[in-house]
Amino acid sequence: MSTSENQPTALIIGASRGLGLGLTERFLERGWQVIATEREGLTRPELRQLAARDSHLSVETLDMNSDESLEELYTRLAGKTLDLLMVNAGTVGSPDESFAQRLLTVMRTNVVGAMSALRILSPTVRAGGVVAVMSSELASIAANTQGGWEPYRSSKSALNQSLRSFIAENPQTPWSLTAVAPGWVRTEMGGPDALLDIETSTRGVTEMLMTRFNQRGIAFLNYQGKTLEW
Ligand SMILES: NC(=O)c1ccc[n+]([C@@H]2O[C@H](COP(=O)([O-])OP(=O)(O)OC[C@H]3O[C@@H](n4cnc5c(N)ncnc54)[C@H](OP(=O)(O)O)[C@@H]3O)[C@@H](O)[C@H]2O)c1
Repeated sequence: MSTSENQPTALIIGASRGLGLGLTERFLERGWQVIATEREGLTRPELRQLAARDSHLSVETLDMNSDESLEELYTRLAGKTLDLLMVNAGTVGSPDESFAQRLLTVMRTNVVGAMSALRILSPTVRAGGVVAVMSSELASIAANTQGGWEPYRSSKSALNQSLRSFIAENPQTPWSLTAVAPGWVRTEMGGPDALLDIETSTRGVTEMLMTRFNQRGIAFLNYQGKTLEW
């Protein structure tokens, strides 16, 4: 890992592809140091190819569903102070799973994994910094008049609920927390019919996150900076 004292540093969890890879590119474009994670043993080359071209990027291995893996990363970060922690990793599960299995799959990653990442890694974030977690517009209970995507939607609602509890129970938290709705984006998860390309979404998310420095408390914001109903 090589980080500079003079440049802000972001840790992006789940950056092998899709929005996490896009966010990594956006922060590098801004001149940040980026520590980006991928899962061990998986063969997507894009993140490592980017790291080979840009010395401001370092790659770490992490499985967000393993507390041991999260603790090991926390240990490797010893002495580093992050300006931004982005917990991006998430899943929709597989259509081959039964309803019950799919619900368990998405809850495991999108709630248990994401909240464990937040709890274990956020002590590395400086006062006045930003912690963000990838939620979804589908998380909104208030806006759910149409249904659809029940397991995934439920997991992101539960994630938002946990994020609100975390801040309510830790009101002295010295950084801001943001539940992020990136829009419907053409990734492997979003599919080819999605409305946004990765660059449009991640550029918007990055600009929105810049408004969250030196603040406290929680907000549920989309990639255009709009406040969403819980
Ligand atoms: N795309 C959309 O339209 C959309 C809309 C709303 C919200 N979101 C949210 O945005 C985030 C990124 O979505 P995406 O569209 O970029 O999805 P994606 O293309 O499916 O990528 C998911 C990323 O999460 C990583 N990941 C999954 N489980 C992980 C785990 N246990 N530990 C570490 N990394 C893990 C994947 O790594 P591997 O390559 O190792 O599998 C991959 O890098 C997710 O939280 C998603 O729910 C997406």
